[in-house]
Amino acid sequence: MNQAQYFTTPIYYVNDTPHIGHVFSTLLADIGARTAQLEGNEKFLLTGTDEHSTKVTDAAQARGLPVETWARDNAHAFRQAFGAFTIDFDDFIRTSEPRHKESVCLRIEQLMTTGDVYLGEYVGWYDAGQEEYVPDAKAKQYEYKSPINKKPLVQRTEKNYFFRLSRYQKPLLTLLETGELKIHPSSRTAEIIARVRDGLSDIPISRHSAEAWGINVPGDPSHVVYVWVDALFNYLTAIDNAERRHLWPATLQVVGKDILWFHAVIWPAMLLALKQIDGNEWLSLPRNILAHGFWIREGEKMSKSMGNFVGIKDLHKYCGEFGVDGMRFFLASAGPVGASDADFAQSRLIESYNANLANTVGNCFNRVIGMVSRYFDGVVPASAPHASEFIQNIAELSRVSRERAQAFQYDKMISSALAVFRAIDQHVNLTEPYKLVKQADNFAQVGHILHDCLEALRHGALLLWPVMPTSMTKLLHSLGCLKDGELPSFIHGRSVSTGCCITETRVMFPRYQETR
Ligand code: ME8
Ligand code: MG
Repeated sequence: MNQAQYFTTPIYYVNDTPHIGHVFSTLLADIGARTAQLEGNEKFLLTGTDEHSTKVTDAAQARGLPVETWARDNAHAFRQAFGAFTIDFDDFIRTSEPRHKESVCLRIEQLMTTGDVYLGEYVGWYDAGQEEYVPDAKAKQYEYKSPINKKPLVQRTEKNYFFRLSRYQKPLLTLLETGELKIHPSSRTAEIIARVRDGLSDIPISRHSAEAWGINVPGDPSHVVYVWVDALFNYLTAIDNAERRHLWPATLQVVGKDILWFHAVIWPAMLLALKQIDGNEWLSLPRNILAHGFWIREGEKMSKSMGNFVGIKDLHKYCGEFGVDGMRFFLASAGPVGASDADFAQSRLIESYNANLANTVGNCFNRVIGMVSRYFDGVVPASAPHASEFIQNIAELSRVSRERAQAFQYDKMISSALAVFRAIDQHVNLTEPYKLVKQADNFAQVGHILHDCLEALRHGALLLWPVMPTSMTKLLHSLGCLKDGELPSFIHGRSVSTGCCITETRVMFPRYQETR
């Protein structure tokens, strides 16, 4: 392996503080980046904030604050929230930063020289909540109401700069059909292909400066770059320098299903347009896009505008009760990783924590470690001379889990990782070391069983490390398989070694008891 792998998240509007949906997308990208790391690759995770939106200026105005202040404070809140959630981002980009402005201007200028960006006139149906134009056919189908917030679409006419999207229909179709650009889950690919086949019209990419906060169109101060186009360039801005260029293209772009079109069609088309320009040959397309579903509450999408979201305060409260790792586990294993939406309910959270973390992962760890301390004074016993069938099974489960991680199916990756812990429990029940130990001549055999269990625990901990980095790092430390400051790895990882002392014996993932 040993490639450079680049993971991205959407950049979030700073009209308000973060909620669970934002944390969820960013978590999935973090899990992706960490699985890449486990496989011995260099990883780079980019996240950040999208600031030049009228939503942001409106929200600031409503509070009587300068937009820069409001944006800065919320960008800070996003950064804090991701940090508190142990998201290991390598850069946090804000579209109001000078580096981004420079990058957007340079790229738009380049697109003007090839005629891919040109001045024209646009009339169309506009969804103010989503900040996007809705194609005529779609507008009719939606009965001229926003499919997201049900507010009426408004007709708008503007002199605008356009991007010549129509030019890229054929090459995009080829890329999508051959799987050179992959959309996950694959069911979403057909959706996008059908829409691209329907035909692509050129799209407006500017707004009048009087009505928008943003980056001026180069050479025309009366227009700013449309917030969506401005935002998409963030993926390039962060990488567009000599030290980082080797990270391009993105291994995975995580997005919600609401913004897949921009990522599967518009951004790739802009890259195709840029790539033809001398010096830009390196700008190949992202390899994978993961378009996940929504967290919903009682059937409705959770969003800032609907006011029904699990906000940052709720999230902190849950992290206090279940641990950051407990919450990461719940979001990734029970969340809308694939095509379907997922309902957020506290009862599901408690059930998942108790069944999977307390009764499976925690119980397994506590049980095995408990026996090693009781029977062997906490010293890893010798292994059998040959690898047991049990260890071969564990290796197979681990292989399946890793394969699922490489396919970006993080929820499925977790379920096969849990199977490792279940297999350990079953193995203990079957071989009954706690009975064998009563006879002195069985002592070596008990040692072999427990050695295998410890080694299997190591596999399980590696598989779950991307999801629960803090507790799985602790587990690996206590097995003596990870030194301080070292990163876990499938490639360079050490097996448990005979004679090594188990250092951690505290109970992991105690059962959650509802007190109310
Ligand atoms: O669209 N469930 O920003 P945004 C799951 N700035 N994920 C959710 C969610 C939910 N209920 N609600 C939001 C924008 N998300 C643009 C993006 S990218 C160049 C520009 C997540 O603040 C999901 O990833 O509205 C969704 O796509 C994103 O937040 C939208 O965040
Ligand atoms: Mg949105």
